[in-house]
Amino acid sequence: MSCKNMIEVRNLSKSFKGRKVIDDISLSVDEGDVYGFLGSNGSGKTTTIRMLLNLIYPNKGTIKLNEYDISRDFSKAIKRVGAIVEIPKFHSYLSGRKNLLLMANLIDDIEKHKVDEVLELVGLADRAEDKVKTYSLGMRQRLGIANALLCNPRLVILDEPTNGLDPQGMKEIRDLICRLSSENNITFFISTHLLHEVEQMCNKVAILNHGKIIAQGKVEDLVNIDYELVEIYTPLIDKAISEIENLDFVRNIKKSTKSIFVQIEKDHSIDLNRALINNNIDIKYLIPHNQSLEEYFIKLINGSEENDQTNNE
Ligand SMILES: Nc1ncnc2c1ncn2[C@@H]1O[C@H](COP(=O)(O)OP(=O)(O)OP(=O)(O)O)[C@@H](O)[C@H]1O
Ligand SMILES: [Mg+2]
Repeated sequence: MSCKNMIEVRNLSKSFKGRKVIDDISLSVDEGDVYGFLGSNGSGKTTTIRMLLNLIYPNKGTIKLNEYDISRDFSKAIKRVGAIVEIPKFHSYLSGRKNLLLMANLIDDIEKHKVDEVLELVGLADRAEDKVKTYSLGMRQRLGIANALLCNPRLVILDEPTNGLDPQGMKEIRDLICRLSSENNITFFISTHLLHEVEQMCNKVAILNHGKIIAQGKVEDLVNIDYELVEIYTPLIDKAISEIENLDFVRNIKKSTKSIFVQIEKDHSIDLNRALINNNIDIKYLIPHNQSLEEYFIKLINGSEENDQTNNE
């Protein structure tokens, strides 16, 4: 089955005043993807999204949305694309519904019931008549998503949709995105700096670091699920390391001031524990860390920074 390409970015670069902030990135988002665009502060997420929406122009490279080149066929390319870049602004003294009605007026041939439909979709129907100034941040964010849904989009682009929300608010947005993806067949491109968010809602990811994509692919392929990370607290750190470093299921050991981080092959924590006990090493705690993507991410970032340094030498 051939998959429709919703976003196709090729060799995109952008400089501000001679400083390169996006450096030759390429990525493609297929229909049905929930694509995570992961990067720390200042890595270039918003700049990329602004280019996708033709708000700023690249110095090099091409962008296709919906298989149309945005520099040539922007109105066709953007036709069924909804987006939020940074914090959505609304008239705070008007109701959520009234705000959306105003926005709907800007869209051609929109059906009258659409505003109520999108309010329902994001779970704001019962607060639709309340003024936006009485909304929580999470509700405003959901109103922003409702606004992005007005054009009946096949693709929705969101710049850090959970930024500033509390854990409950973040979960609501993630659940909403997952639901819109599976029930309404909407493709998403979502920037975030949170790894666990990518793990929880995205099927694909591109990891952006200093304007370069340092890894991309299916989340399940990138997350190395065949190992575990275990932290060991023991008064005998050095002895423990020498006893376990040559075990065949131990992949990597990192020493910190109070504990040891040991990367082991999956389902070997009992063997690890037994090896320590059999060698008379007292264990205070053995703590599992299920942060495989985070480990991977940090390793990648460190790796690419070391490469940068070697390249600069
Ligand atoms: N209009 C501009 N003029 C000059 N520099 C800019 C401009 N916009 C962005 N930058 C720079 O480009 C780099 C990438 O910024 P960008 O806002 O895209 O990062 P981000 O990944 O969205 O970060 P955050 O997580 O903080 O939102 C930063 O160094 C930023 O200072
Ligand atoms: Mg940003």
